[in-house]
Amino acid sequence: MAHKRICKAVFPAAGLGTRFLPATKAQPKEMMPLVDKPIIQYGVEEALAAGCDQIIIITGRGKTSIEDHFDVSYELEKMLEERGKTDLLAVVRQISDMIHVSYTRQKEAMGLGHAVLMSRELVGDEPFAVILADDIIDAEVPCLKQMIEVYNETGAPVLATQVVEGRAISSYGVLDAKPVASKWGHRLFEVRNLVEKPKMEDAPSNLAIIGRYVLTPAIFEMLASTPLGTGGELQLTDGLKQLLKKEKIYGYTFEGKRHDTGDKLGFLKATVEFALKREDLGAEFREYLKTLKL
Ligand code: G1P
Repeated sequence: MAHKRICKAVFPAAGLGTRFLPATKAQPKEMMPLVDKPIIQYGVEEALAAGCDQIIIITGRGKTSIEDHFDVSYELEKMLEERGKTDLLAVVRQISDMIHVSYTRQKEAMGLGHAVLMSRELVGDEPFAVILADDIIDAEVPCLKQMIEVYNETGAPVLATQVVEGRAISSYGVLDAKPVASKWGHRLFEVRNLVEKPKMEDAPSNLAIIGRYVLTPAIFEMLASTPLGTGGELQLTDGLKQLLKKEKIYGYTFEGKRHDTGDKLGFLKATVEFALKREDLGAEFREYLKTLKL
């Protein structure tokens, strides 16, 4: 059976970014660069590569630079054109040419579930993707593309998952899930239950939810009636738990390396790894790192 195509990708980006203060006092954390590209652009490029052509960004106060980033910058383009900087001009144009972006505001920081609920009107009655831009996934086949392939076959919501060992599991939504025989082998799970940020001893498994979701529109109705959960916030995980009563949900262990750029150490590691991979910088940077007496 053919399922509806996933055209829309929602990016919750209204968070305050307190973990990166003072850098995020007057600048959204989504705009912090990894080497020379803002974090959110990595996610937008992944959504595009996965076949989405409508990007929905949930913003809040102080986030206008995200809108400017994906918009045309006439002054900058004119200047680069006059100075004959054609390479840079192409880089700048490519961003605004990328896709159609819509914005909606989340007036209060009431949690991820609340942020997703804000996209209800823009998404409408069709399946869609959610990308948490903090989680950057370096993969040969873009993570969201892998997940859409699972969706295309199952027609059910798909959550990205990864094994997280030890105490760190308490920072995630955690799955109670059983492996399913499929062409994805041990990568596909059927979800039986989900818990947001459990204590380590209460975690139903070590399968953590990572920031990529393929969702069906029924999630909106569920979120609208889900009570506030952990941290006094409306949790997407709790909405999914409601959805589970109506629909099957799958967990999918993606192929690729995930970087948690919402964490300072994760951000530093991602910066080093992405810099080392760059054609224009990698070799010199590697030589430099070797000179550090570590
Ligand atoms: C959010 C979700 C959590 C998920 C995590 C992935 O938490 O609530 O279920 O495991 O993203 O990065 P946050 O990191 O925003 O606290």
